[in-house]
Amino acid sequence: MLKTISGNLYDYPKYYDLVYGSDWKAEFDFLEDCFEKHAAGVVQNLFEPACGTGRLLIRFAQADYAVSGNDLNRQAIDYCNRRLARGGFPPTAVVGDMCDFRCAQPIDAAFNTINSFRHLSTETQAQQHLQCVARALRPGGIYVLGLHLTPTTGQPLTEESWSARRGNLAVLSRMWVTGRDTRRRQEQVGMSFDVYTPTKQFRIEDHCNFRTYTARQMRKLLDRIDEFEITAVYDFGYNTGQPIHIGPETEDVIYVLKKR
Ligand SMILES: C[S@@+](CC[C@H](N)C(=O)[O-])C[C@H]1O[C@@H](n2cnc3c(N)ncnc32)[C@H](O)[C@@H]1O
Repeated sequence: MLKTISGNLYDYPKYYDLVYGSDWKAEFDFLEDCFEKHAAGVVQNLFEPACGTGRLLIRFAQADYAVSGNDLNRQAIDYCNRRLARGGFPPTAVVGDMCDFRCAQPIDAAFNTINSFRHLSTETQAQQHLQCVARALRPGGIYVLGLHLTPTTGQPLTEESWSARRGNLAVLSRMWVTGRDTRRRQEQVGMSFDVYTPTKQFRIEDHCNFRTYTARQMRKLLDRIDEFEITAVYDFGYNTGQPIHIGPETEDVIYVLKKR
């Protein structure tokens, strides 16, 4: 039985980045395909709301894009900026709220791929977020937004796990649903990192709430944002050659929203 610490998993960027940063290539290639296929004109300036450790921002900086991002978590932002600076790039991530920000210059594309959007707990926040992103984008720019919908037929996913190893450090990450109230639009989720090094092994355990969205609720929200049109929808297969049609059983979705 591992010794367990209660804590906010996002306060441990080194462990977060090992688990979620290892699998960056499919998302990176998919995002580049979306820029090519769906944005008007050249995509050079990127912004990631809720960028966390910047596991994707660093890859785009290395590929010669101008990148920036924000996140509420100071530890994640410091980690992100240190890595950008080590790579010779400007430390352009800031502590900030994805519902209330402005970018210094017009953005060609923004992305937010793995459910961060569902951390926003109210409809007002979700709407403010989409309006902020829309304001930051230039016309013809795109926002690539990925999240899990709550299916209205079939059983939704209740558990997921990932693991990664670098040198002597191995991390196993788990997420499990502990409760879901679709009337209040809340899903309670447990999350943990099991950390293994040659000298210590321990578990960090966290709990958080995600807002739930059925396909219809998400559509209704997006319809209220006049600045955006839904230009394509994909799933976490990350294949722009295979757009999907959202049905009652659809769970993972990636909306490509284009600024009018
Ligand atoms: C699942 S992580 C994703 C991080 C990063 N986008 C990635 O793909 O690895 C969710 C992030 O959302 C951030 N977050 C939650 N609410 C936020 C808010 N209102 N504004 C900015 N960041 C927020 C958390 O601090 C956390 O870093």
